[in-house]
Amino acid sequence: MSSFEQVYGGSPEAQASAPGRVNLLGEHTDYNDGYVLPIAIPQQTTVAMRRSRQARFSLHAAELHEAVTFTFEKPPTEHFASYVFGCLALVREQGAQIPPLDIHVASDVPIGVGLSSSAALEVATLRCLRELLHLTLDDVQIAQLAQRAEIDYAGVRCGIMDQMASSLADTTRALLLDTRTLERRFVNLPAGASVLVLDSGIARSLAASGYNERRAECEEAARLLGVASLRDIDTVEKLAALPERLKRRARHVVTENARVLAAVNCASAPEFGALMNASHASLRDDYEVSTPGLDTLVALLQAQESVFGARLTGAGFGGACVALCASGAEHDVAQAVLAAYQQAGGSGRQLVPPEA
Ligand code: GLA
Repeated sequence: MSSFEQVYGGSPEAQASAPGRVNLLGEHTDYNDGYVLPIAIPQQTTVAMRRSRQARFSLHAAELHEAVTFTFEKPPTEHFASYVFGCLALVREQGAQIPPLDIHVASDVPIGVGLSSSAALEVATLRCLRELLHLTLDDVQIAQLAQRAEIDYAGVRCGIMDQMASSLADTTRALLLDTRTLERRFVNLPAGASVLVLDSGIARSLAASGYNERRAECEEAARLLGVASLRDIDTVEKLAALPERLKRRARHVVTENARVLAAVNCASAPEFGALMNASHASLRDDYEVSTPGLDTLVALLQAQESVFGARLTGAGFGGACVALCASGAEHDVAQAVLAAYQQAGGSGRQLVPPEA
């Protein structure tokens, strides 16, 4: 894997990193103005930049072994480059002069499994631009620009959880975020508990279409209920008049918001874990974003004595599962569960804590 120096010769003028995230609770609530509870993962993306001698941008992604060149007039067509291009274009729209740059990206955030590799790339790019050009952007503005880049340039109508988590979270405490007001505070994990993340090995093939479909269903439910968003509904009784499918979608959102608030008010790991298990059941049955493979992996995690609770994490349709696990037992649990998952025909791997 080649470094900035190897690709371009000489050193970068600015360099910045941002982490991926795993969401502990509050799934598919952010685009409904609700509550989320992500935590940063140890894996990070690092972006390095230098003013170029050429009249165009060069972008090299070390892990992808991809190199592209582009200008503002001739944007890149490669998907990964659209995140970087989106950030550059948005900062330029804000009035900054951006000279042609040599850009290098290095990352150990797993791609395409629901751990926000795209948000990490956007936030690291914006942080690096802030440093290089001395921009006055705070961390919330960075998250907001990153979300815009994803919506306008990568074509995903995402909420703001991933970018806020990458920009503001750390790996030791969860970030309770109200996505309507952006009010937030750090919340300790329950005593004696740690985060374990396993990849199901299932590609998230339907993620983009299924995601936008769920979002549209929530908007339709809110419209029928006469509220600005499903955040404004506090009890499931108020959903009675909705058509069956929309009622189930909305019920997930309403109960998921309540689970986040219950989790931050409950100190014990078993209670927190029970809320994660309930979240998975709701995502599987009411929101229908799980898959048989994810259900198998989650059930295997939940059956472990050292696991307090487990669920799919991120948008669903494949990708990673998160468990709250007795601290110190992560590796043993991962080994046992991945072996049983393989027996059941799956092929997973441990993502957090990262294996040495
Ligand atoms: C993706 C989106 C987030 C959020 C989650 C589901 O990660 O980018 O905004 O909606 O799915 O909770």
